[in-house]
Amino acid sequence: MTDSTPTPLPASVADLTLEEKASLTSGASFWYTKPVDRAGIPPIMVTDGPHGLRKQREGGDHLGLGDSVPATCFPPAVGLGSSWDTELVTRVGEALGVETAIENVGVLLGPGINIKRSPLCGRNFEYLSEDPLVSGVLGAALVRGIQSKGVGTSLKHFAANNQENDRMRSSSDVDERPLREIYLRGFQRVVEDAQPWTVMCSYNRINGVYASEDPWLLTQVLREEWGFEGLVVSDWGAVNERVPSIAAGMDLEMPSSGGRTDAEIVAAVKDGSLDEGVVDVAAGRVLDLVRKTQATAGTIAGPLDVDAHHALAREAAGRAIVLLKNEGGILPLDRTASVAVIGAFAENPRYQGAGSSMISPTRLDKALDEIAAYAGAENTAYAQGFTISPRDTADAAELRAAAVELAAAQDVAVVFLGLPAAAESEGYDREHIDLPSEQLTLLDAVLEVNPRTVVVLSNGSVVALPFADRVPAIVEGWLLGQAGGGATADVLFGEVNPSGKLTETIPLRLADTPAYLSFGALDGHVRYGEGLFVGYRWYDARELEVAYPFGHGLSYTTFAYGDATASVGADGDVEVRVTITNTGAVAGREVVQVYTSLPSSDVQRPVRELKAFASVALEAGESREVVMAVRRQDLAYWNVRAQAWTVEGGDYVVDVAASSRDLRARATVSVEGDAQTTPLSRESSLAEVIAHPVAGPIVQQALAQMGGGLLDGASSVMPEGVDMMQMMGSFPIGRVGMIAGDGFPPEAIDQLLAAANAPQH
Ligand code: BGC
Repeated sequence: MTDSTPTPLPASVADLTLEEKASLTSGASFWYTKPVDRAGIPPIMVTDGPHGLRKQREGGDHLGLGDSVPATCFPPAVGLGSSWDTELVTRVGEALGVETAIENVGVLLGPGINIKRSPLCGRNFEYLSEDPLVSGVLGAALVRGIQSKGVGTSLKHFAANNQENDRMRSSSDVDERPLREIYLRGFQRVVEDAQPWTVMCSYNRINGVYASEDPWLLTQVLREEWGFEGLVVSDWGAVNERVPSIAAGMDLEMPSSGGRTDAEIVAAVKDGSLDEGVVDVAAGRVLDLVRKTQATAGTIAGPLDVDAHHALAREAAGRAIVLLKNEGGILPLDRTASVAVIGAFAENPRYQGAGSSMISPTRLDKALDEIAAYAGAENTAYAQGFTISPRDTADAAELRAAAVELAAAQDVAVVFLGLPAAAESEGYDREHIDLPSEQLTLLDAVLEVNPRTVVVLSNGSVVALPFADRVPAIVEGWLLGQAGGGATADVLFGEVNPSGKLTETIPLRLADTPAYLSFGALDGHVRYGEGLFVGYRWYDARELEVAYPFGHGLSYTTFAYGDATASVGADGDVEVRVTITNTGAVAGREVVQVYTSLPSSDVQRPVRELKAFASVALEAGESREVVMAVRRQDLAYWNVRAQAWTVEGGDYVVDVAASSRDLRARATVSVEGDAQTTPLSRESSLAEVIAHPVAGPIVQQALAQMGGGLLDGASSVMPEGVDMMQMMGSFPIGRVGMIAGDGFPPEAIDQLLAAANAPQH
C-alpha cells in the first residue's frame, strides 16, 4: 500500500504482457509483491501474524525473523481459543485489523487453524483446537474482525499440516473421511462464512501430493466446492515446482524467487505446456488483492492507541485462562494474605511461542508486579525457584532451598511452572509432554512446607500434570500475550472470574494420545491411523481416563442447567434451547456446549461430537435461556461412495454440556435424512441394491421369480439362524450373474442400474 493517491489500476490483465503477468505471481522480496510500474501497479506488503503484527523494520534480515515494529501481542491462538467467545475474538480481530491498517500492511498472515492432532506438534500454540467446529467458528470470527478494517487475512496452513518435523516434504496420509470431517472442515467453515482474502497453502504433501501442487485441494475443493473467491498464496518456500503449482491454482508464490520461476512460467506458456489463461487467472487474483488493499489504504491512521489495545489484550488473556482445579475454594486469593510468588515465569513471562509469529510487544506485564499490585508489595515475596534460560547458571538446589524457605513463611504459595521457550517452536516438534524435572521437584518441596499452593502454568500446548491430585488449585495460563501477567493476577484475586475452557484434552500420559504410534514422518509419510478419532473423539471411543477433558474449565461461581429442547427449524438447522442459571454468589460466564450423536448410524462415528457452543455472561442469581443452532450441514458425514456430504436420517441425541464429559441435559431430535445420493454401479453390493428405493423392489422380484428365491437352496444346508442375504449381501451386483446364472444377464444388470440412477421425480 502507498499513502499517496493510488493510480487507477488496469481494468484487466489484458493490458499486461505475458512477462508482466508472470512477474505478478511471485514476491518481490520477503514481504512484498511485485509492482508493474509501467501499468501503475504498486507492490503490497503482507506480513505475520497471527496474534499481532510482525512488521519487520526496513532492512531486516533475509530470514524474515529480525526485529519488528512494536505491536500489541494478543494471546496466541492457544489462549484466545480457550475463551470460546466469538464476540471477544471478533473484537481482537478488529484490533489486529486496525494495527495492520495503521502500518500500511495489506494482509496479516493468519489465522492458523490447523487441528491439534497431537500435543507434540511444536506449533500447537498457534492453533485453536483439536476440534474443527471450535477452529472454524473462532477462525471465522478472527477473519471477520480483521477484514472489517479493510485489510486481508491469510487462512493457514492449508492443509493437514499437523506437525513441524519434516514439514517441508513429508506426506500427511489421511483417509477421506478424517480429511474432510476433521482436517478440512474448519477451513471450509471459515471460507464459507468469512471469505478470507487469501488462503496460505502449506508446505507438506497430502496423500503424496504437495499442497502447493494439488488441483484437487486448491481448485476443486477450495474454489468449486466451497466457493473461495480470494487468492492462494504459498507458505514461504512451499512451492516445489512452479509450473504445476500455478496450474493447480497456487496463485502467488512467496517470498521472492528472484524472477527464476516467473521465467519458467513464461517459457511454459511459450512452449505450449501451460495455458496462458492459467497465468491470467493467477495474475488477475493478485491484481484483485492489490485493488482491495488500495481501496481502503490510508482510511485508518495512527497513532495506535497503545493503552486501549493493551487493555483489550488483558481482557482477552483473562478470558483465556482455564481454571482446571480449585479445591476448598483456595482461589480467589484473599487480598490480605501474604503470597510467596515462586518460579522464574512470574518475572520473565513466557507469553508467545517461537518462530514466525513472534511479536515485539508494546509493553509486557509481569505477574509478579501485578500480584504485588493486588496484595501489596509488603505482602508479596518472590523466589526464582528454577532456571528457564540456558544462560542462567544458578545452582538448582540453592534456588529450590530459597523458594521452599519463602513458601514456608507465607500464607499461600503461587508457583509458576511452564515450558522453557525452546521446548516448543515452529519448525520442530516436542518429544515428550513433561515439565522439566527440576520444576516438578521444586513443586513437591514447596507442597511439603505449604499445602496452600496454587500452580499457574505457562505452556503453548498441553503438559502432563503428575501433581494434579496433590495441589489444591491449578490455573492453566497457556501463552497469554503481553498482558498475561495482569490477567493472571486478575484471575488469582477474583477481579476476573475465570471462564476459559479447554479446546484440547489434557491426557494422563503421552502414550494415551491418539497419534502416539503414528506421529512424525516415517520415510516421509505420516499415517493418520487414528482416522476420525482425534482429541476427545479418541478418549471417548476408547473409554480412556484423562487428566482434564475437552471443554473443561471451572469458575468461582456455579451454573445450573435446565431441561434442554431440540427442534428442527424451517432452514433444517437444529435449534437447541436450555436455561442456564448462575447459582453462585458472583457474576460469571459459562461456555455451554452442544454435542450430538446418532446411535442408529450406519457408519463409524465418534461417541459424540461438538456441534454448537455459546459463551454466556450471567450475574449472580441470573437465569437466561440460551439458544444455539446446530447447522444441518454439521450433522453430515463425508460419504466416500457418494463423494458427497450426507445427513443420515434418524433420532439424534443432543447433549447440552459443561464439558465433553460433564453432560447436563439431553434431548432427542428426529432429523430427516438426505435423499439417497449414492449412485449404484456394478460394484454396488447386493445389500445396497436391495436397500435402494428403485432397484430394490426390482431385484427382490427377480430373486423371487428365480424359483422360490435363489438363496433358499443354499439356505437349507446352513445352520439354523444363518441369514443367507446377510451372508451374500456383500456380493457385487455386477458379479451376481455368477451365482444367479441366466436369471441375471449383464444386460439386465445394466438396465437395472440405469433405472436406479435415472433422475427421480
Ligand atoms: C510460516 C508461516 C509464516 C511464513 C512467513 C512460514 O515459515 O509457516 O506461518 O506466515 O513463514 O513468515
